[in-house]
Amino acid sequence: MNLLQATRDVQAKVHALLSGTGHLERDEAAALAGRLREVIEAHNYRYYVLDAPLITDAEYDVLLQALRRLEARFPGLQTPDSPTQRVGGAPLDRFEKVRHPVPMLSLQNAFDFDELRAWYERCRRGLKAALGVEAPPAVTAELKIDGVAVALTYEAGRLVVGATRGNGVEGENVTENVRTIRAIPLRIPVAGGTTADVPARLEVRGEIYIRKSDFEKLNARLAAAGEKTFANPRNAAAGSLRQLDPRVTATRPLSFFAYAVGPVEGTVPPAQYELLAWLRGLGFPTNPHAARFTDLDALLAFCERWAHARDALDYEIDGIVVKVDDFAYQEALGAISNAPRWAVAYKFPAREATTRLLDIVVNVGRTGVIKPEAVLEPVLIGGVTVSQATLHNEEYVLSRDIRIGDVVVVKRAGDVIPQVVRPVVEARTGSERPWRMPERCPACGNPLERLPDEADYYCVASDCPAQFIRLVEHYAGRDAMDIEGLGAKLAVLLVEQGLLHTLADLYTLTLAQLLALEGFAEKRARNLLAAIEASKHRPLSRLVFGLGIRHVGKTVAELLVAHFASLDALAGADVETLEAIEGIGEKIARSVVDWFRVEDNRVLVTRLREVGVNTRRLPGEAPPAPGESPVAGKTFVLTGTLPSLSRKEAEERIKRAGGKVAGSVSKKTDYVVAGESPGSKYDRARALGVEIIDEARLLALLGDADGPPAR
Ligand code: IVH
Repeated sequence: MNLLQATRDVQAKVHALLSGTGHLERDEAAALAGRLREVIEAHNYRYYVLDAPLITDAEYDVLLQALRRLEARFPGLQTPDSPTQRVGGAPLDRFEKVRHPVPMLSLQNAFDFDELRAWYERCRRGLKAALGVEAPPAVTAELKIDGVAVALTYEAGRLVVGATRGNGVEGENVTENVRTIRAIPLRIPVAGGTTADVPARLEVRGEIYIRKSDFEKLNARLAAAGEKTFANPRNAAAGSLRQLDPRVTATRPLSFFAYAVGPVEGTVPPAQYELLAWLRGLGFPTNPHAARFTDLDALLAFCERWAHARDALDYEIDGIVVKVDDFAYQEALGAISNAPRWAVAYKFPAREATTRLLDIVVNVGRTGVIKPEAVLEPVLIGGVTVSQATLHNEEYVLSRDIRIGDVVVVKRAGDVIPQVVRPVVEARTGSERPWRMPERCPACGNPLERLPDEADYYCVASDCPAQFIRLVEHYAGRDAMDIEGLGAKLAVLLVEQGLLHTLADLYTLTLAQLLALEGFAEKRARNLLAAIEASKHRPLSRLVFGLGIRHVGKTVAELLVAHFASLDALAGADVETLEAIEGIGEKIARSVVDWFRVEDNRVLVTRLREVGVNTRRLPGEAPPAPGESPVAGKTFVLTGTLPSLSRKEAEERIKRAGGKVAGSVSKKTDYVVAGESPGSKYDRARALGVEIIDEARLLALLGDADGPPAR
């Protein structure tokens, strides 16, 4: 019987039982509990290991709740490895020490490609000398997960001990905490897995970690409860795993990837790459991005790719672990002191550095939002000089006790604006000064306001020049009205020279006015006027986004335009109507209504229309009714480089046709659109049997009616 059928089956039995229509004998209850456990485990496996859930979280909870009730009604039914036993047992006074029968080694590091090449060369020579191997050995490369290493011991398929790595020789017994982690099987092989033969005794090693998204949520929850927040996901994972009260650990969103085995009584596959698949078959989540190479250049390309792509992952990695694949080769190479010769960690360039916080200034954004910003002593981070960093908001600064004059840790992650992570409290001299949010807007001097449930302060003055300059910049931005040549500097100049008082003034600028400005010759002035003129014909969603209404980003603007065919129609909408739109909450709805209530804004809308700016939905801007396009309602995942469409264009066109674009492949994906050098999404699509199409097929699905790609 397939899983979904089995699920429906137990759901029906459970329903009959819980609604009181079924009478249950003990034997039947025992059988039902057994079935429930299997079904729950199998869904767990699909969720954590295959990342392809078949049922919703709510349905899963109903099953779990039913099992709980059943176990409560017939006390003898409960087993230690029942999925109900993940709630956390009694608190401990301290953790007991556990000696690792086989030490958990650490890794030698390679900080650049030369060192990585040198490591590989050493392995080659070593294997030649020891075993006479001529061919370059295969290696398995895995993402180096930034979490906490643990060893999980299974006896007769049951989890008996979970221990931290500790110093490698001795760790702490955190079994009760480990049992609360749903990604870690309590019993193997799990129902739904594919590996049947379980060694009598097996130690599985891997990393407990916290996803970045879960980390944000956890910190928000802790902050709201007035508790201490964690500095990063790794600290959060370590801190959560080392709670003396397992019930606390049970509330923490811990995840797990298995990547090795310790001592085994029984057989395991002969090489690392196969080992990972074998572990997955037993029921352990393994990272999906592992790859095997025999070509050194391909390995280096893999490392290079992940050094850039790491920010796109929802968990932190700090390098790539490269392991000689064949276990017999590993054995022959052996270890030096506390690290094996057969493995190396290629470390990504550091992206954190310490420097002095010289000052904290506040900036006024286009919506009037006030953001504290750090002025730093310039410091080189990952090849880029950083002298400014964001401090997010008042609460961010105060909760971390960041003071002017502090030595601070600054982090630069990918394209993201650098941020101050924390102060180095140990480096304080006593001359550091606490900072306070100014009471007045630095640009216009009006008092700042903080809305009841928002973290940010705002300058609400309608005539604040700083706000207006930012608004002009935003309005002219690429995702809004796309006025080429109108950037931050020119926005300042136009406003300061008194040429712009409202956005509509852009459209009455004259050649003579521009020529009078510094740095303007005829050509530049004419180009700018042409660009402003061209902006009159943009799609309505870009105008709605460009107006700078608080909480109305690009996606929300598109959503609004899908429901309102003109700016006037939107202006007339009330909070209830707006809130009824899926994806629009009360906060956004209020913000929109408030914006159109302001007299100046209403005048602006009228003037924009009068000067000829498009205020109506363009044909093709609204999604077609479901069923109109073969793309409507379908979920797409894009991978690789497409021959003619950019990623953004493809996404926009799919969305315009009523389709959805997801970031990862699951059973729910309808099509994977693959271009050149597709990534792991391609493999996953193949594994799951999801239809893979090329750009030509996508364009055909989108239909000719859609016209040429939007620029
Ligand atoms: S293998 C002897 N594989 O890195 C090999 N380790 O510096 C031992 N780590 O303590 C580890 N991801 O916490 C291995 N895919 C991976 C890993 C990994 C993260 C951590 C682990 C270990 C540390 C070594």
